[in-house]
Amino acid sequence: MKHNRMRAHFTGILVLLFAGVGQVIFAQESHIGGLTGEGSRGKQLYRRYCVGCHGPLGDGRGENAPWIDPKPRDFVTGTFKCRSTPTGALPTDEDLYKSVTRGFVNSNMPSWLPLTKQQRADLVAYVKTFSSSFREEKPPSPLSMPSESAANQQSIQSGNELYQKMNCWSCHGKEGRGDGPSAQTLVDNRGYPIPPYDFSVGTRFKCGESNQDLYRILMTGLDGTPMPSFANGLTPAQAWDVVHYIRTLQMNVKRKKQTAENEKKDRGESKPVGAQPE
Ligand code: HEC
Ligand code: HEC
Repeated sequence: MKHNRMRAHFTGILVLLFAGVGQVIFAQESHIGGLTGEGSRGKQLYRRYCVGCHGPLGDGRGENAPWIDPKPRDFVTGTFKCRSTPTGALPTDEDLYKSVTRGFVNSNMPSWLPLTKQQRADLVAYVKTFSSSFREEKPPSPLSMPSESAANQQSIQSGNELYQKMNCWSCHGKEGRGDGPSAQTLVDNRGYPIPPYDFSVGTRFKCGESNQDLYRILMTGLDGTPMPSFANGLTPAQAWDVVHYIRTLQMNVKRKKQTAENEKKDRGESKPVGAQPE
């Protein structure tokens, strides 16, 4: 009799303990602008929309993962590509929110813009529960970004010289076609081959499409990939020069696009103004 009660008591403690652990795991929040995301709500959404790729444990081993290249992110390691924070640091909630909203070009990661802002904020909070890093550290403040210099001929020329000097070409190739001498040998932090970006294809960039986004990629690096941070190698003024030079590598494609766009306009098929996603 006494024995039984003790066991009941013990089970009670266990239940409490697990409830406690559950609390710790799911009490993660995110703060995006005025929004507060709740991990507990994000969990339901994650199970519905993300689990097939990122897996129930957030380790990137969802059931679709074997057929996907590049592989879905492993959230457990706390390593993220698109950050406003220095290399090696955690991303901010805002960084994660932008990635979820934007999706990743040239990958299977879709844009989740169709979900509400609150839902995306809740998802960010839940994604953070998979890595203990988010409980142990705070992301440092974002890298400061001085305002952009003029994209004149002199800046482009300086960017070209830096592109050679900083060995960008060894991976990205002399003309930025992703065919440098090391290109074939590169692997990511999980050992999967990863091609350097081919600038000539002119699609948008992984972490956004503005010059500011490009500047950030150069100065923070794409963590988990061979693309390093140049925060110690380039001054802010030099980084802007490199951004301006990289844009010229995309020029041909842009011109082609522009021609097609003009032809379309000519046929009266132009897109309505303001049709851009947020
Ligand atoms: C069809 C597969 C797929 C689905 C579904 C999917 N993802 Fe992804 N996700 C990926 C892939 C692939 C990457 C890696 C892309 C890359 O490295 O270029 C990724 C990367 C990410 C990243 C990494 C951002 C960074 O900076 O490194 C986050 C965060 C993320 N996904 C969140 C989500 C959330 C939240 C959902 C559900 C709403 C989701 N994903 C659904 C495939 C998917
Ligand atoms: C050691 C090899 C290596 C070097 C050196 C290198 N990169 Fe990269 N870079 C990569 C790889 C690999 C990727 C693709 C990462 C990915 O797909 O996630 C990349 C991606 C990028 C991207 C983002 C493309 C995208 O998908 O959004 C930019 C921009 C870029 N590199 C510019 C540069 C510039 C400029 C330099 C020199 C200052 C440089 N890289 C030096 C390997 C390198």
